[in-house]
Amino acid sequence: MAETSPLLVVEGPNYKPTINTNYSKDSIPITSTFPTDKITAVDDKIPTVDYFMLLSDDPDERSLAIKSLSRACEDYGFFHLVNHGVPDSIFEGVFKGISDFFDPDEVEDRKQYEKKHPTDRIRWGLRSYPGENREYLKVVVHPQFHCPPKPVGFSEAMEEYFKRLREVVHGLAKALSKTLGLEEGYIEKAFNLESGFDVSAMNLYPPNFRSKGSVGVPDHTDPGLFVSLICDVNSGLQILSHKGNWINANIPRNTIFMQIGDHLEILSNGKYKSHVHRVVLEKNKVKRISVATLHGPSLDTFVSPAIEFVDKSHRPAYRGMTYKQSLEANGGDEIDVQSNIEHLR
Ligand code: SIN
Ligand code: FE2
Repeated sequence: MAETSPLLVVEGPNYKPTINTNYSKDSIPITSTFPTDKITAVDDKIPTVDYFMLLSDDPDERSLAIKSLSRACEDYGFFHLVNHGVPDSIFEGVFKGISDFFDPDEVEDRKQYEKKHPTDRIRWGLRSYPGENREYLKVVVHPQFHCPPKPVGFSEAMEEYFKRLREVVHGLAKALSKTLGLEEGYIEKAFNLESGFDVSAMNLYPPNFRSKGSVGVPDHTDPGLFVSLICDVNSGLQILSHKGNWINANIPRNTIFMQIGDHLEILSNGKYKSHVHRVVLEKNKVKRISVATLHGPSLDTFVSPAIEFVDKSHRPAYRGMTYKQSLEANGGDEIDVQSNIEHLR
């Protein structure tokens, strides 16, 4: 039944998704309803990987850390990365910069960044309808860093974060190669990571005033080697686990949450899996900010199952494609398919 409050998106048989641009400090877009009754998730164990130990000079310590990374990737496909070396002050600068950028009174100004193509360097969007409730800014941060110049300090804070994150990307790529029994530089070479195409989605999810949850981002997997995620509110992300149940990925502040991306699943011929996830705003009484960065191969890199993972009993299970093709298959910013991986059997 249609609600009468002017702040609510009207639902019913004639419902049409509309972007709510009445976005002022007094009227934060209230998340629209969605059939979320079926949306449930439980708290479960999520493995933790110590980045500092992965780089340790002590071979025993290093090998223990590689083992725990290997188990996290094979048994889960996602993990909390701790001791990553990115200082708390950088996280704080990032969240402040994003909060300032999404100033409710400046929404008109942000429309200049409304673009459609997935390789556009800066693009903005506001979604406020059943199935997706968020405002986002997506920027290409590698091989070249892009960011809107305003507000003051925003671009500097983001650049600092992505510079530090890049070091983690290379360290983790080396460690991941080792967990797969490959030489240390294998993934960096196979993905041409020096020119890796990284897109960062900075999201602002509105508070949810309803008793039942609504959806911030619908079910999907992400392309690339892996996705790094930070957020300012310790709730909202849910992941479909290897056991087939939805679990809450509560992410403590200053932890980087890592998820295997589609292209590592393809390269490893399914040894490591990219997991379906979503954002549910059920417990969000305040706005939630997240930064989800897709760390990809270079745009022209063709990724297919590596020969090291293919033999008579392990046929190639995925169709290979360039990273650019897989981003374009996504059709811009709409999340209308769960995954763009093409299985061969
Ligand atoms: C995403 O996966 O697209 C966003 C995740 C989040 O905001 O937690
Ligand atoms: Fe995602």
